[in-house]
Amino acid sequence: METLSLVYFSPTGTTQKIVREIGQEMGLKLISENNITQNQDKFKPEVNGNCLTIIGIPVYGGRLPITVIEALKKIQSNQSPVVIVVVYGNRDYDDALLELKEIAINCGFRIIAGAAFIGEHSFSSNDKPIAENRPDKQDLIKCRDFARMINKKTNDIRDVNTAIELNVTGKYPYKERKQLPVTIHPKTDNDLCNRCGTCVDICPTNAITIKETEITNGELCTWCCACVKNCPNEARIFDNPTINAFKEKLFLNCSIRKEPMYFV
Ligand SMILES: Cc1cc2nc3c(=O)[nH]c(=O)nc-3n(C[C@H](O)[C@H](O)[C@H](O)COP(=O)(O)O)c2cc1C
Repeated sequence: METLSLVYFSPTGTTQKIVREIGQEMGLKLISENNITQNQDKFKPEVNGNCLTIIGIPVYGGRLPITVIEALKKIQSNQSPVVIVVVYGNRDYDDALLELKEIAINCGFRIIAGAAFIGEHSFSSNDKPIAENRPDKQDLIKCRDFARMINKKTNDIRDVNTAIELNVTGKYPYKERKQLPVTIHPKTDNDLCNRCGTCVDICPTNAITIKETEITNGELCTWCCACVKNCPNEARIFDNPTINAFKEKLFLNCSIRKEPMYFV
């Protein structure tokens, strides 16, 4: 392997951080970085035999976000090596890594390694922190450890075509995806909003428009919280009894620190 390609979806930035850290430590020449959080229609995957691809996707409801699957399926590889990474908010990653493995195999990749890392939960807030500020220094050290394990494995086996199929955790049938109620989504505090348009630009599903006031299309919103975490005026607020009860549950049940898992 001589070159590296990164593919990731990362509305609140934790997956991006982790994938970049792993990639940097690999010591390969970076030839493409595909952030598919927005503009998935423009995603033109390029994969060749000598290139290692790292794919990083966050976990939503124990699965991959439904809005990323079609973009991933566009990738066509001819048995080139891939590292699959899921990032979750300290609850669980359930079947997400297995789902990513299956998609990668169907794209024609040969899976060299997989991992589940932890990132600050998209619903984390100052009053109910969940995996706050992760990935932190310790996580980033583990990203580099993981990269060195991958390098060692690829050096040891020399010919990646001889790599045996990788087992990862997860089970069939996959955890069922829950339908999100369309009336629940982040809202704008119009006293704080100065119509800068950041939320419109960063929303992965183009669910937000600004006219006189901001309008969120609940049918498109995936609750990713990109708008909440990136609003420069903290005007986007996800404050609703259902969400608050969910945050409380996460805060109470998921506060014990989990550590990254590697499959190499
Ligand atoms: C709709 C939604 C569902 C989520 N479901 C899970 C989950 O099942 N388990 C978990 O531990 N974290 C879950 N998370 C948290 C994210 O996986 C986590 O915050 C991740 O770091 C976000 O990645 P990003 O920063 O790249 O967007 C969920 C987040 C969202 C927005």
